Amino acid sequence: MSAADKSVLPDSPHHSILIFGASGDLTSRKLMPALFTLWSEGFLLDDTPIFGVARREKTDDEFRHEMQAAVSRHGRLGEIPDDQWQKFAARLFYHRLDLDTPDGYVGLHSRVEETEAQLFGPDVAASRVVYLAITPSLFLPSVENLCAGGFKPAHDETHRLRVVVEKPFGRDLSSSLELSSGLNRLLDESQIYRIDHYLGKETVQNILLFRFGNAIFEPLLNRNHVDHIQITMSEDQGIESGRGGYYDTSGALRDVLQNHVLQLLCLVAMEPPAVFLGDQIRDEKVKVLESLRPGSDNIDEWAIGGQYVGGTVDGKAVNGYRQEDRVAPNSRRETFVGMEVFVDNWRWAHVPFYLRTGKRLPARVTEIAIQFKLPPLHPFSTVECDGDDCGLVGSRPNSLVFRIQPEESITLSCSVKKPGHQYNLERQRLQYQYPHGLAEAYERLLLDVLRGDSTLFTRSDELEAAWRFVQPVLDHWETEKFQPEFYQVDTWGPQAAITLLGNSGREWREP
Ligand code: BG6
Repeated sequence: MSAADKSVLPDSPHHSILIFGASGDLTSRKLMPALFTLWSEGFLLDDTPIFGVARREKTDDEFRHEMQAAVSRHGRLGEIPDDQWQKFAARLFYHRLDLDTPDGYVGLHSRVEETEAQLFGPDVAASRVVYLAITPSLFLPSVENLCAGGFKPAHDETHRLRVVVEKPFGRDLSSSLELSSGLNRLLDESQIYRIDHYLGKETVQNILLFRFGNAIFEPLLNRNHVDHIQITMSEDQGIESGRGGYYDTSGALRDVLQNHVLQLLCLVAMEPPAVFLGDQIRDEKVKVLESLRPGSDNIDEWAIGGQYVGGTVDGKAVNGYRQEDRVAPNSRRETFVGMEVFVDNWRWAHVPFYLRTGKRLPARVTEIAIQFKLPPLHPFSTVECDGDDCGLVGSRPNSLVFRIQPEESITLSCSVKKPGHQYNLERQRLQYQYPHGLAEAYERLLLDVLRGDSTLFTRSDELEAAWRFVQPVLDHWETEKFQPEFYQVDTWGPQAAITLLGNSGREWREP
């Protein structure tokens, strides 16, 4: 994706990886399986030490056993031969630390230095990657403590400390600005890697390569040919156990739309960068975010919040949101967001972008559908019947759909002649289907941190522009005036979201 791709190996020969929050779910479900896969495929050198850091008392051996179980369960390589695991686990260490108390960081630093001296030799300088898989209130204190505890590199070798931050990056514009300025006081922006795991998905990266690697589509992607664009990120699951507390202070707008969905919008709407490098790509994304305009002057008309109520799915009773664990029984938190927005620039003027995301919808699907305009004339048609109701149907608009997940694909829908002795039309699809077994997003993202490529990470100005756009909606939804519209589980969200398109004669695609 950038100049760094010339080499798939890390940019510096020696690294240490520290995972803060090593007892947590993210470490077992995503990070350790991804590191194991990278190591198995030769992207992580044999002598790279990985330190799990957390509050609980644990020996190295106990940690290794826990991680073996986690990687066998969640890794994508299946059964791990024992000798292979032992080889990987020999570089796995555990260090107990209270992240919010500065004292222990000096001890952690000495341990990392000693280990590096044993593995790499006495005078070899390694880069340290510190992954903050921890609660957001500890982001800043732990970076402060790292810097005070000896991890802060000299000014001319900032690359020797890279800090990876997991979302949420604040819960609104002001808290996000505060977090960014706190981090920027301690670290250079180039040392901060804010993860949006959507950008690590193979199919998401392909959006730019497909757009700018082909000459035939790009001339069509603008207001002259595109009627509208739909971005859907739907989930059939409700609130996973243990997440109710977090979700009820967050909601779908903060959890998913402000980050993943707006990132998808940026990729499909941005201009080609002058060169395909991280900062230039991110400059173009910022321009898109800064050009966003609400679909109407009235927030309730362009931003729809919904909440699911209980019902049955596949014959089984399913809780409504308010009955979920650790959710307030009178919660007004949205589990669905639908939006109509415009990208006010020369290319996209007057083309609506419809965004929707929600929990407990009929399917887990993420896709971007570009809906083109109809042909100017309809010389051909065909008779189609729905029961006894028959009518003439002309060409249908072409669409180009990037299916991010599942069944990853790119599909172009066209009208073609229906075989037979009449000039009848039918709709057919030209499709590229991705192979199975694509790399996990965290594999790519961790590898990029190691090789110092921040293309797929969110820069602070991108973050700020995204928060700035959603802030009026967040403010409005905090007031008593806002009540989310209820929707039944296993449906495509509240009625108002259907009307959002229906008002202009458009319809949501059924993915
Ligand atoms: C996370 C959200 O960022 O993305 C979750 O916090 C959501 O609520 C998840 O379920 C969806 O990710 P994916 O990769 O499964 O589509």
